[in-house]
Amino acid sequence: MSLRERLQLQPFQGYAYSYPHKLAYRPFAPALPLAPLWAREDRRALFLYVHLPFCEMRCGFCNLFTTANPQEGVVDAYLAALERQMRVMGAVLTPARFARAAFGGGTPTFLSEGEIERIFAGIDQHLGGIAPGVPVSFEMSPATVSAGKLQTLKNLGVTRASIGVQSFLIEETKALGRPQNPADVAHALTLMREAGFAVLNLDLIYGAPNQTTKSWEHSLREAMRWTPEEIYLYPLYVRPLTGLERLRREPSDLRLELYRRGRDFLLAHGYRQLSMRLFRRAEVEADPTDGGPVYCCQEDGMVGLGAGARSYTRDVHYSSEYAVGRAGVRGIIADFSAWSDARLETADYGCALTPDERRRRYVIKSLLRSSGLSLTAYREEFGGDAMEDFAELGELPGYGLAEREGDRLVFTAAGLERSDTVGPALFSRDTERRMEEFDLA
Ligand SMILES: C[S@@+](CC[C@H](N)C(=O)[O-])C[C@H]1O[C@@H](n2cnc3c(N)ncnc32)[C@H](O)[C@@H]1O
Ligand code: SF4
Repeated sequence: MSLRERLQLQPFQGYAYSYPHKLAYRPFAPALPLAPLWAREDRRALFLYVHLPFCEMRCGFCNLFTTANPQEGVVDAYLAALERQMRVMGAVLTPARFARAAFGGGTPTFLSEGEIERIFAGIDQHLGGIAPGVPVSFEMSPATVSAGKLQTLKNLGVTRASIGVQSFLIEETKALGRPQNPADVAHALTLMREAGFAVLNLDLIYGAPNQTTKSWEHSLREAMRWTPEEIYLYPLYVRPLTGLERLRREPSDLRLELYRRGRDFLLAHGYRQLSMRLFRRAEVEADPTDGGPVYCCQEDGMVGLGAGARSYTRDVHYSSEYAVGRAGVRGIIADFSAWSDARLETADYGCALTPDERRRRYVIKSLLRSSGLSLTAYREEFGGDAMEDFAELGELPGYGLAEREGDRLVFTAAGLERSDTVGPALFSRDTERRMEEFDLA
């Protein structure tokens, strides 16, 4: 669908947080050996991502690759497979240095202190460890946080603690399929603040069916009590195979209005907007990887460990297979836990990026950040003119969605709030078709 056609529709059409989307991944035949794939990458500043697909409950809105309350022995077998994967990847990547690390899921704090320590010990032993001063992010949920776990994380070098709050009102978290007592949330946030992480991040969702502008402002005001360094504001999407979809619940019609209120509230409370969803306190030192191009290049060297984790080299993205349904996720976790060394040395599922897809990825990821797309950096990377390569970019100023600032094409406020329209408009036909044809069942 063209940008012009998309602009006739409501703005919330798709979250382009990575490109190509995982629904565009397919089996590789034959499988690709990882050693030559990584040998041609610059491995001096890699991004290490560890996926821990376990949660204490499956939230109604969530389609992430995770499973609730795994049976006895499942986590242990998974951690043993992670260690094997670290050993194999240690040999594949040598020498390698990590410039960032993130532990996501799922809910990594679903694990015990001992299990968390075991993962970090594996990274030390097989991957050369994470150097002091490297930003390390760890995701958590209110129900799985404890003072002991937070202290363990602090001791292990975690610098950013990120928690999914979603809403400070129990009626809203119930409507989102994640009943959550606000007193427990407040307790978790207090413990997280006391633990002294450099960055506290809090996720909120807007657009629950029963949310009002007033109740949204209540959650935003509550969030301010902990002066988080970062806040993500996520518009609610009801995605296939989730609890909310089964209940046929729809996001509220107020999402655009709620977005604007949330943005204005945070800008008035000392936050800068880094993308449609991400806000950071103005006095917090800029992350050196914030600028579009640097961020993009760095993300291209992402080493994903665990089932569901994606890995990005310059021209090949790969992962284990993807599912949302309970049986599918559990099957993939069980498979991963039994992978042999030989299997761990190859990628058999993902997406090879053509030069056109690499350029699109760069443009999408840069444009959707407030810092915008540097046309000079694009030319240096790809040797062409982004405005000529992608006609849609030239249309943006006419619609009031972007403007030129020197050599950069930067979203206006109207463009930022249309991120979920402009992002999908820049997907290639081929990626769009693969996404449509993906069999979720
Ligand atoms: C991995 S989770 C966060 C950590 C933790 N598992 C938790 O839920 O507290 C990532 C975040 O994405 C957001 N999210 C996930 N699915 C969403 C959806 N369908 N619509 C809007 N936001 C969503 C939520 O705010 C969630 O906190
Ligand atoms: S939102 Fe977080 S806690 Fe809920 S199912 Fe998804 S990953 Fe798990």
